[in-house]
Order: sequence, then structure tokens, then C-alpha cells
Amino acid sequence: MSDSPDYSAVRKPLLEASALPGHCYTSDGFFEMERDRIFSGAWHFAGRTDELPQAGDFLVVDTVVGAAIVCRDSENGLHAFLNACRHRGTRLKDTGGCCAGFVCPYHAWVYAHDGRLRSAPGMDATEFNKDDYSLQSVWLETWGGFIFINFDDAASNLLTWLGDLPDTMQGHDPESLVCTRRFDFTIKANWKFVIENALEAYHTGTVHQTTLGAQRSESVATTGQWDALYVLSDEQKSIATLPGEFQAFPFIHSLGEKAKQGTWFTVIYPCLQLVFSQDCVWWLDIKPVSVNETSLVVGGCFPTSTVALENFTQGAAAYYHRWQTATAEDNAIAENQQKGHMAGLHAAGRFSSAEHCVHALDNWVLDQIFGELKR
Ligand code: FES
Ligand SMILES: [Fe+2]
Repeated sequence: MSDSPDYSAVRKPLLEASALPGHCYTSDGFFEMERDRIFSGAWHFAGRTDELPQAGDFLVVDTVVGAAIVCRDSENGLHAFLNACRHRGTRLKDTGGCCAGFVCPYHAWVYAHDGRLRSAPGMDATEFNKDDYSLQSVWLETWGGFIFINFDDAASNLLTWLGDLPDTMQGHDPESLVCTRRFDFTIKANWKFVIENALEAYHTGTVHQTTLGAQRSESVATTGQWDALYVLSDEQKSIATLPGEFQAFPFIHSLGEKAKQGTWFTVIYPCLQLVFSQDCVWWLDIKPVSVNETSLVVGGCFPTSTVALENFTQGAAAYYHRWQTATAEDNAIAENQQKGHMAGLHAAGRFSSAEHCVHALDNWVLDQIFGELKR
């Protein structure tokens, strides 16, 4: 990165603007600024409340600024705490599951579902009060069954962050959704390449030529820290299964008129994509690992009434096939894009009119890094 990079071309109106300079995708220094100015105060997606139906069910959430556990207690409450023992900081769990309590693998301190220290063997000679050594709690909020955590107590609350997204998506009745599948991917590419790709339909006729095919999209007016691309359905079916495939499931019964005609590909800044389609909702949980590596979890959700259908397993296979196929195609192109940037010689190009969400995201990133810190 040069001493004083020039971002003025990114700041111009869409059709005059250039994309972010190459170093924004390859520089450790830029990535560190993103970690400090964006991810340290961000709402990190943790999973769905329906994935934790029983007392003791827990999820492990790894982010670039901290690692947490989200757990259901016996009173139906949800808790989030750091995934680090209060004795000498050992990581407690690597994957989600269900447990009677969290037993540290080092010296066997045991914590309850709400993070309280229950026992600390061999500590009798030490003067200390167990109540002072609960796991460190992390701020947790939910909307529509989606769980979010934040490591910064000074951040805006979740509903302020989401702005008018809950109103726009209320017809999808998100509370009634059930997550039925997750798919895990590791992508050798910067996180912005992954979310940028998910926010434009300009590429679908080429990258997904033999699968999704070309798509028509529109912009969406939003308030709050989110944006969306609205993709129209050309047939009387959702785009959650591949064109020509059997439309397996009925539309969500409470959809409004606009929701019946298309799909919102949202971004909840910085990089969570919730996709609201006519018959299902899916997410792209994009989490940066390093400047050139990103973890991606794709999760698929259906209304409770759909999951109860006799042909659910059979019908859901078409959706799972679509998510796996299109995601693999998108991941491959993001890795190609990263390779194209690695020599450091790439000069930023221009945007098409279909890339308004990419332009908005890139400007949002610059706002966070170089603007006044607003959380
Ligand atoms: S580090 Fe956990 S019990 Fe020692
Ligand atoms: Fe794509």
C-alpha cells in the first residue's frame, strides 16, 4: 500500500466511479483497519434460535475479533460468552452440540449453561469466590429468530442497526422459520470479494451460465445499516431452485405483493447476507479469517409448515443442490479474483449500472475506516 492511497474515484457516483484499489483486498494493513474499525463493533451472526431447541444446546461462533459460545439454558434463555476458560484462558469448545455443562479440557473447571462457574477442582487452598469467575458474557440480541452477538458494548443495538429491514421482511414471518441444513466452505479470497459477488446479478449469466442463468435485478431503498438487491422471478416460481426444476414448496402464506414477485439478496453490513425468497430464506454467513481467507456458512431455512410436509426431504434436495452448486461457482470466481490481485499490478476498473450494491458496500467500508466512528 502506498503512503497515501487515493480513494476519490470510489467516492464518485456509480457510473463515474472506480472499484476499490487492489490493496484493499491484499494488504494486511488495510485488513487490520477493517478489523479495528468495522468488525470489532459489528453485529456478528451466530445462528438461528431454532437450532438451539433444548437446554444445553450450543453453537460456537468464531469471528476475526473474538470467539464465543451461544447456549440455551434450562429456562429457555439464550446466553453468549467468550469461548475461553476463566482459569488460564483455554478454548472450551471447537464445534457446537449439546452438553450438561462446559468442562474445560485443561484443569476441568466446569461452567453452567449461563456461563456461571460451577466447580473448580483443586482450588480449595485459593481464596476466591466462584461467582466472580463466570465466563465473560457477550452481548446477544435476536430478530426474527436470527441470533447476533457483539463484542463491543458501545455499539448500536441490533434493531437500530437493522433499520427498516424487519418491516420490509415481516411478510416472510421469519420467526416461524426452521434451519434444516448448513453447508461450510473455506474460500481463499478476501471477504469483500465474497459479499460483493453476492450483491450483483451482473455475473449470473456467465458464472452461472449453465445453472442459474441470467437474472434481472433492481435496487431497493433502505434505512439502517443494510442494503439489498431485488431479483425478479420470471416464472411463477422462486429462484431458490434451479430454472426448470420442479417447484417443490408452496409460497410463504403471509407474503405481500412485492414479496410474491421476487427475492431480496440483502447485506446486513458488513457482510451477512440474508436472502428472502418466496418459499424459503437462506443466509451467507461470511466471516473473514485473514486478508485472503474467508469462512462461509450457507444455511437454509423453511417455514415450519413446509418442514412438516410429507415430501419435505425429497423437495428440499432441489434447494440444497442449488445452494451447493451456485455457491461453488461463486467461490471459484472469488478465488480467481484474489489471484488476479496478488501481483499488486491491478488498476481498479469501472462499475456497471447493475453493481450499485457493490459500489455502496465499498463506500460503506471507506466510511467506516476513514469517517467518524459511528456505532
Ligand atoms: S485453563 Fe481451564 S481449567 Fe485451567
Ligand atoms: Fe453468483
